[in-house]
Amino acid sequence: MPQFRPNLFPGKLIIVEGIDGSGKSTQLSLLSQWLRSKNLVVSFSEWNSSSIVRGTTRQGKKKQMFTPTTFSLIHATDFADRLERRIRPMLEAGAVVCADRYAFTAFARDAARGVRRDWVRNLYRVAIQPDLAFYFRVPLGVALKRILGGRAALKYYEAGMDLGLSPDIEESFALFQQRILEEYDSMAEEMGFHVIDATQSIKKQQKQVRQIVLQHIGDALERDVLRSPTE
Ligand SMILES: Nc1ncnc2c1ncn2[C@@H]1O[C@H](COP(=O)(O)OP(=O)(O)OP(=O)(O)O)[C@@H](O)[C@H]1O
Ligand SMILES: [Mg+2]
Repeated sequence: MPQFRPNLFPGKLIIVEGIDGSGKSTQLSLLSQWLRSKNLVVSFSEWNSSSIVRGTTRQGKKKQMFTPTTFSLIHATDFADRLERRIRPMLEAGAVVCADRYAFTAFARDAARGVRRDWVRNLYRVAIQPDLAFYFRVPLGVALKRILGGRAALKYYEAGMDLGLSPDIEESFALFQQRILEEYDSMAEEMGFHVIDATQSIKKQQKQVRQIVLQHIGDALERDVLRSPTE
């Protein structure tokens, strides 16, 4: 991740990536519970959650007004806002920041939408280098089985319907996710992802995740990270 800013703060930044249904949120939630059980201060940050662009995003989606480039810019704005208002201050304060998706989501999705890769990367050059980046890798079929049926109907942009890949929303979603999967795979090594085989059981993956955390930032968690006061 050559162009990100280094994390010079006492806090640690852990991020998760992977296609929809790969199990990111499940694993990050288990990890954060474990970190909290060690009395560490943990802060959460989710993709696309900033209030600054919420209204615009809702309008744009409703009227299907986004081009791949404007959609990319909206996400970058959301990211910059969360980075400056939440992620950076929490790292400065010494918390462990757990981010459910990070700049790589934009790298993968926007490229899958046909936006130029170097253009997207340039938008995110303000990002802070994560201390640990996990990539939950699953074949498309496994992810689809986990999510289709189990959740609300697919939405237009989520399914990549704006790309005109297929008039069938489920088929479009599958084709779009496959493109995203290929983008993740092709950047995994360059970005230093810790690749987890996400077809394994939840428990087995979590064990690996915790081992990697201890191995790479265990000392820093002991030494630098903020702890909640104990009674
Ligand atoms: N290892 C696993 N084996 C089987 N099912 C799993 C596994 N991990 C997660 N699941 C289930 O798959 C579904 C999707 O998991 P989760 O919400 O964690 O994925 P996600 O990557 O966060 O997806 P999204 O990108 O859509 O937010 C959930 O119902 C979850 O319980
Ligand atoms: Mg999730």
